[in-house]
Amino acid sequence: MFTILKKQELAPSVKLFVVQAPLIARKCQPGQFVILRIDENGERIPLTIADFDRAAGTITLIFQEVGHTTRQLGRLSAGDALLDLAGPLGKATHIEKFGTVVCVGGGIGVAPVYPIARAYKEAGNKVISIIGARNADLLILEQEMAAISDVLYITTDDGSKGRKGLVIDPLKEMLAAGEKIDLVMAIGPVIMMKSVAEVTRPYGVHTIVSLNPIMVDGTGMCGGCRVSVGNKNKFACVDGPEFNAHEVDFDGLMARQKMYHSYERREHRCGGDCSCHR
Ligand SMILES: Cc1cc2nc3c(=O)[nH]c(=O)nc-3n(C[C@H](O)[C@H](O)[C@H](O)COP(=O)(O)OP(=O)(O)OC[C@H]3O[C@@H](n4cnc5c(N)ncnc54)[C@H](O)[C@@H]3O)c2cc1C
Ligand code: FES
Repeated sequence: MFTILKKQELAPSVKLFVVQAPLIARKCQPGQFVILRIDENGERIPLTIADFDRAAGTITLIFQEVGHTTRQLGRLSAGDALLDLAGPLGKATHIEKFGTVVCVGGGIGVAPVYPIARAYKEAGNKVISIIGARNADLLILEQEMAAISDVLYITTDDGSKGRKGLVIDPLKEMLAAGEKIDLVMAIGPVIMMKSVAEVTRPYGVHTIVSLNPIMVDGTGMCGGCRVSVGNKNKFACVDGPEFNAHEVDFDGLMARQKMYHSYERREHRCGGDCSCHR
């Protein structure tokens, strides 16, 4: 059992857990994730390791309540425990001194971007971060990102915080102005990562995205997480989750993510009419 030591609400429907998991904390690196199961009736879901404390033996998970399991998770409190926690899984982010790295985080994607951006900074890169959300209430980790970034842009769809617009807007402007960018790392909704790839493609700027297909085992045994990258089938849980954005078939990924929509609704026993499904 893995005890939740701390619970914090970062935004409506976005929760942070600090979980006791000394073996995972000892080995994990930025970019890796865990697969958890709440109880014996639960499904296995992947969540990124948003932070870790090796000395304390803890990892931090940040999740958005989007369906049955994440809502059930959100109802747990400090002192409760998770039945299973497997990890660290996936390949760690390749960290080195590239020069100027732009880190783009959309919505809950800011959580996985944070440890990666921090590692780029610690490796001596100039880190320009762009974080965005639908509105100010949904923006997370602003202070944490500010602390490890040389420049931080904030965007909201409705203009309630920072610039009104999308996270790709500052990136477009930097590229159009001829700013030298050596690497772009983008994590967020698939449609956002696809847009970032289209923005950087004409400039030939190497762009990495962290993909979030449906996963089951997370150890390379089932192919549930397969994605087409460079016209080859890759298993995101073992070959990724990070890939060259210019080679990813984002439309195929989006289609596969929707495969179980009707089952997800049935599992929720609301018939899909509650606000969580709109
Ligand atoms: C490697 C990896 C790391 C992830 N890290 C995080 C994280 O740090 N924080 C976080 O909040 N989420 C993360 N996710 C997404 C998370 O796993 C899903 O939100 C979760 O499985 C949904 O389960 P559910 O039963 O609550 O929702 P469901 O009822 O299964 O689904 C509800 C809605 O969420 C969508 N959804 C389901 N699975 C995913 C998915 N894998 N990615 C995107 N949308 C999905 C469905 O299409 C549906 O519309 C990650 C996914 C992967 C593959
Ligand atoms: S989740 Fe089964 S192979 Fe990746």
